[in-house]
Amino acid sequence: MIDNFINIFEMSPRDGLQNEKNFISTNDKIKFIDKLSSCGFKKIETSSFVSPKWVPQLSDAGDVFRGIKRKKGVRYTALTPNEKGFDDAMKVKVDEVAIFTAASETFCKKNTNCDIETSLIRFKPIMNKAVRNKLPVRGYISCVSHCPYEDYVDPSKVAEIANKLINMGCYEVSLGDTTGKGNAEQTLKVIEECLNFINPKFLAGHFHDTYQNALDNIKVCIESGIRTFDSSVGGLGGCPYSPGAKGNVATEKVNELVLSMGYKTNLDSLKINECSHIAKQLKMIGSCS
Ligand code: HMG
Ligand code: MG
Repeated sequence: MIDNFINIFEMSPRDGLQNEKNFISTNDKIKFIDKLSSCGFKKIETSSFVSPKWVPQLSDAGDVFRGIKRKKGVRYTALTPNEKGFDDAMKVKVDEVAIFTAASETFCKKNTNCDIETSLIRFKPIMNKAVRNKLPVRGYISCVSHCPYEDYVDPSKVAEIANKLINMGCYEVSLGDTTGKGNAEQTLKVIEECLNFINPKFLAGHFHDTYQNALDNIKVCIESGIRTFDSSVGGLGGCPYSPGAKGNVATEKVNELVLSMGYKTNLDSLKINECSHIAKQLKMIGSCS
C-alpha cells in the first residue's frame, strides 16, 4: 500500500439508495452507476442481495448488475448477508461481496434478524464459497461507537468482532459509525482497540455524517494509519434499521479534505460533483414522488 494514497470506496448506490422512501427505478440506478464509473473509483458498492421484504429499495440488485456497463479496473461490489444472497450475487458475477454484522446485539437483531454469534455462523458458508470462487470478501461492523437502541458500545467488543472477521478471511473490516454520533475521541478508542489485533491496512472507516463528526473522525483514522474510507456522493443515504441516521459522509468532502492534507486519490472532482448533483435529484425522487 502506498502511504500517501487514500482509497475512497463509493457507497451511494447501496448505502445511499437503500434508505430512500420510494423505489428508484432500475434504469435510473444503472445510469447513476455508469456515471459513477467515470469518476476514478476503484470500487463501487452497487447493491445488496438481501431480502426484498427487508430492503425493497434494492430488490432489483440482479437487474442492476446485469444492466451496468462495467469499466475495466473498477470492482462492482454487493452486500450478501447469507448464502442465498451470495449465490444470487454469483449469478450476476459480482466482483466482491461484503458480509455485515454489528457490535450491538439489538442492532444486529433489528438489521439481520439474528444475534452477533449467529451472524458470524451464517458467514462461514459464504467464506468457503468465496475462497472456492476466488472472490474477495469485505466485513462490516455497524455501531462501532454508538447504537440507536443500546447507546453505549464497548470498543473492545468492536475489536473482538473485527479480529474474528479478519481470521475468517475478510481482506478488510470497515468500521461503521452507523448513527454518526461517534466523535474523534471515541473513534480513536475504537481504533486503538482494533490495532491491538489488526494492522491498519486491513481497516476502513465508514462514517455517517449525521452530526458532522465524519471529517474529524477520518482525520483521526488517517493519523492512526487507516487509508480507506467509505463515502457517498452528495452524502446520500442512511440505514433503514438505524432511525434518524443520515447519509454517509459526502465523497466530495472526503476527497477535498484528504487532498488538502497532501494525500492522493486519483478521483476526478468535476465528475464527482456531477454525480453528487444526480444523487440529489435521485433523493428528491426517492422522498417526494
Ligand atoms: P430472515 O427473515 O431472518 O431470513 O432475514 P430467513 O432466512 O428466515 O428467510 C425469510 C425470507 O427471506 C424467505 O422468503 C427467504 O427466501 C428470504 P419467504 O420464504 O418468506 O418468501 N431471503 C432472501 N431473499 C433474498 N435475498 C436474500 C434472502 N435471505 C432470505 N439474501 C436477512 C434475514 C439477513 C436475509 C434479512 O434480515 C435481511 O435481508 N437483512 C438485510 C438488512 C439490510 O440490508 N440492512 C442494511 C444494510 S447494513 C448497513 O446499512 C450498515 C452498513 O452500511 C455499515 C453501517 O453504516 O453501519 C454496512
Ligand atoms: Mg452505512
